[in-house]
Amino acid sequence: MVKFNQIASLLLVTACFASAPGFAAGGGAQMEHADIDPDNINSLQRGAANFMNYCSGCHSAQYVRYKTIGNDLDLSDEMLVDNLMFNAEKTFETIQASMPADDAARWYGTTPPDLSLMARAKGVDHVYNFLKGFYIDSDSPTGVDNLQLPGTSMPHVLWELQGYQAAYFTDHENEDGSVTTTFEGFEQLTPGSMDSEDFDNFVRDTTNFLAYVAEPIRSDRRKLGVWVLMFLTFFLILSRMLKKQIWKDIK
Ligand code: HEC
Repeated sequence: MVKFNQIASLLLVTACFASAPGFAAGGGAQMEHADIDPDNINSLQRGAANFMNYCSGCHSAQYVRYKTIGNDLDLSDEMLVDNLMFNAEKTFETIQASMPADDAARWYGTTPPDLSLMARAKGVDHVYNFLKGFYIDSDSPTGVDNLQLPGTSMPHVLWELQGYQAAYFTDHENEDGSVTTTFEGFEQLTPGSMDSEDFDNFVRDTTNFLAYVAEPIRSDRRKLGVWVLMFLTFFLILSRMLKKQIWKDIK
């Protein structure tokens, strides 16, 4: 019994640790749910195109090969070459940023991080809200700040699509004299080429792709899981039948 309790508490502790990054990612400013659909191949294809067009100038995704993307997202080698591989020659190459890391560090003060594992490290909701969270800030060298990553050195690269927005905050003083700042909301200042719904979908597809990149075998794993469960069910029935057969004379 003691052993059982020990195992149970060990499992509980493991479960808590496993879910901890989820809690960490949920902190900070208010977050909208990313609502991505990892099984939606069209969304992933659009996300891949968005990534190559708007992000790969600065960001690499070094752990994923074009070939793997092609296989998983139903894209032929020709489609890969024509639509995604702007700075690569061979489909077995991984996604490299077009801009040399040293230059990027000099211009932005920080090297744009590799995005292979970002969706897993920070959570998809964080990525989704980060991409939607740029607002005008005249004190910042890039002219914008970000609600999810205050003081970020990433410029508002999607400004043409989203337009520019302002963020409103209120301060209120606590009893102990400290000040709590609350985010009140965004206000659209200039329109972008997309309305807010289309822009949300654009960001959702991009986030979906980053989630896929962070775990490309996810869908395989789920398919395999179904087979394993089917096998176990079959095996259970078989062993029941066997047991009945073997014990039928002994009563
Ligand atoms: C002009 C260069 C540039 C482009 C283009 C760019 N980024 Fe970034 N990005 C940066 C830099 C620089 C940082 C580091 C920011 C920091 O740490 O303050 C960054 C950081 C990030 C982060 C990490 C945020 C965090 O919370 O740590 C994510 C996610 C991200 N970028 C996503 C994207 C996506 C998606 C695109 C395409 C839509 C994109 N970026 C396009 C420069 C760029």
